Amino acid sequence: MDGNGRWAQSQGLSRAQGHQAGAEATIKIVEEATRLGIEYTTLYAFSSENWSRPRTEVNGLMGLLSSTLKKYLHNLTDNGVRLHVIGRFSELPQKTQKAFQDAMDRTAHNTGRHLVLALNYGSRLEVLDAAQRYAQEVAAGTASSKDLSWDVFSQYLYTTSMPDPDLIIRTSGEVRLSNFLMLQAAYAELYFTDTPWPAFSPEEFRKAIAHFQNKQRRFGKTGEQIQQEALVESLKA
Ligand code: FPP
Repeated sequence: MDGNGRWAQSQGLSRAQGHQAGAEATIKIVEEATRLGIEYTTLYAFSSENWSRPRTEVNGLMGLLSSTLKKYLHNLTDNGVRLHVIGRFSELPQKTQKAFQDAMDRTAHNTGRHLVLALNYGSRLEVLDAAQRYAQEVAAGTASSKDLSWDVFSQYLYTTSMPDPDLIIRTSGEVRLSNFLMLQAAYAELYFTDTPWPAFSPEEFRKAIAHFQNKQRRFGKTGEQIQQEALVESLKA
């Protein structure tokens, strides 16, 4: 969700107003994702590198995250959406942790739709945390290094039990992943747009999804193999 600051500057507004407009855009996109039946929507709301921003901006973002959650929680419960947080949760301010933990508890029984917020998230931290937990379990004898496979290791990531992303959208003109779901993105389609996040509309969101739907994903196989598999599947159906 990049470009809040640049959008604000282009409108003669403050960065805080840019983030506020970003939060409003977020709500519209999450509502659209629910409407479209998308099972998992993940938002990169605060990276593990974002702590290096000025303290007032960091505090403002934490306050905005909690206040937006408070205002919007009833939509999640009404629409059967379960909230998850990925990232180093215990390093967030106590108040932020409490607001998000309460919301996760209140939506824990929902199963059909999932909203995942990446807060204090970075792929490199995620790998370090996973490797540390795995090593501890090997040392304790509850995991065996002989059995290590991607299926096993991925269960130690913050995204355990979540599917890999099909489509990753980045707004505001940068063409990079910036430490976001680097391992989970191995086969994701990537969509980059110059539109800054506050101006990213449900229409453009649908355009990004249409772009994804037009791609043939091969997962390392040949086009012929994919066609063959599709044929076998259609005969089974
Ligand atoms: C990047 O834009 C955006 C962020 C670091 C914060 C993302 C937060 C929101 C969209 C608002 C709240 C979100 C939720 C989930 C309610 P930037 O500030 O780096 O923009 P710039 O690169 O143009 O300066």
